[in-house]
Amino acid sequence: MKIRKAIIPIAGKGTRFLPATKEIAKEIIPIINVPMIHYIVQEAVEAGVEQIIFVTSSGKFAVEDYFDRNQELEAFLERNKKTKELELIRKIGSMVDVTSVRQKEQLGLGHAVLMAKSMIGDEPFAVLLGDDIVVNKVPAIKQLMDISIANKGASVIGVMEVPKNETQKYGIVKGDIVNEKTLRMTGMVEKPKPEDAPTNLATPGRYILTPDIFKILETIPRGAGNEYQLTDAINVLCQEKDVFAYKFTGERYDTGNIHGYLDATIDFALKDPDIRDTFLENLKMRLLKNGIKL
Ligand code: UTP
Repeated sequence: MKIRKAIIPIAGKGTRFLPATKEIAKEIIPIINVPMIHYIVQEAVEAGVEQIIFVTSSGKFAVEDYFDRNQELEAFLERNKKTKELELIRKIGSMVDVTSVRQKEQLGLGHAVLMAKSMIGDEPFAVLLGDDIVVNKVPAIKQLMDISIANKGASVIGVMEVPKNETQKYGIVKGDIVNEKTLRMTGMVEKPKPEDAPTNLATPGRYILTPDIFKILETIPRGAGNEYQLTDAINVLCQEKDVFAYKFTGERYDTGNIHGYLDATIDFALKDPDIRDTFLENLKMRLLKNGIKL
């Protein structure tokens, strides 16, 4: 058994990144010089995904174009003997098979996932949210795939531990402990107060789902924010089928908000051997210049 397809919903408005997102897709905003979406697609590809289905809205063409060939640019680089750059952009253009489907109205994440129903067929699939970059040698989504495959293709929701006083920011899972890293889910609570939170395990945008989710998404009412919530559908799914929550390993950056975005930028600069030394020197100088003593 293999999980071959991944849905990446990118139809949201990206209000936390305005004004940039007034005219450009949030997913194209780079961490240094690599668009955020590149990391998400790369994670899926490294996990063995063969087809990416973007759920898009108007103004997101740059994301689809990014994973397409750009023959004009290739010819320019070839003429100018920029072999390294040519190789890099050819590689991106042939990274993976990409298709897209439109979400005509932004009615929520659950609704966005439902838009991809006809492209999935009768097989478990991955969902990755573009707001969360997870760095790890074994891709986070691959870790979930392995648990799914070990459990006859069951749904697996990626979770991470958050401080108890931050449960209000996340969807929090509840369930019965299977082992140190796995729960058999009995439900999910959306943004509970710390005193009401059943666990401190939050769901930062990595899922393996079975196609059963589609018929649930077709019937659930609108939930929080008057939107069709994927959380609500998962809540129903775990009453009907086995759904596991799995504590994946990896460093997660919430790049949908400014501070998570800055954390990722700084860490990626410090980890890049071509950038690190100069960046550190400049950073020290800039801290001094701005009167900041550590
Ligand atoms: P968010 O709630 O983070 O919304 O959606 P957003 O528009 O990306 O960002 P903010 O909060 O306004 O700054 C989580 C994910 O679900 C997708 C988004 O593109 C994002 O990847 N989404 C959300 C859709 O595709 N369609 C929707 O109707 C809602």
